[in-house]
Parts: sequence; C-alpha cells; structure tokens
Amino acid sequence: MVKKVRVCNGAGCKAWSSCSIYKKLNSLKSEDGSGKIVKIERVPCFNKCGGGASVKVNAEGVNSAGNFLKFRTPREAVNYFSHI
Ligand code: FES
Repeated sequence: MVKKVRVCNGAGCKAWSSCSIYKKLNSLKSEDGSGKIVKIERVPCFNKCGGGASVKVNAEGVNSAGNFLKFRTPREAVNYFSHI
C-alpha cells in the first residue's frame, strides 16, 4: 500500500502537468486504507526539475532511494499506481 505521495507544485513540474497528475492521483486516495493512496499533497520544488513531473512516494516495499519518480503524463502516473 502507498502511504504518502508528494507531487511537486513547482513551475517546472507544472509544465509537465503536475496539477493534472495531482488531481488524478488524488482520486485514488482513500484515508481508510482501502485505496491505493492514503495521503497525497502538493509540495514545493524538489530541486530535481526536468524530464517530467516529480513525485515522491512512501510505500511498503519501496526503499527511500527508489521512491522518487518522474511522470510525463497523468496517464503514466495512474498506470504506475494501478500496478503497485
Ligand atoms: S519544479 Fe518540480 S522538481 Fe523543481
């Protein structure tokens, strides 16, 4: 289960549709633990701009080094979370 997702709200990531990615992933949220995501929030720039919208994930079975992701489209983000 994904415990927490942070979506970058910086200008560079907005250019990669981070606002739409946030909205799509927010629809997967369920605070009672029955959904894919328990908590999701927008955060300032991670200083890892470029190549897609930056998303940080805290999940069971995902180590801290492997939890930083880049998504180029909202569909790509939803596909990732529907397979974990
Ligand atoms: S704008 Fe998102 S990492 Fe910098």
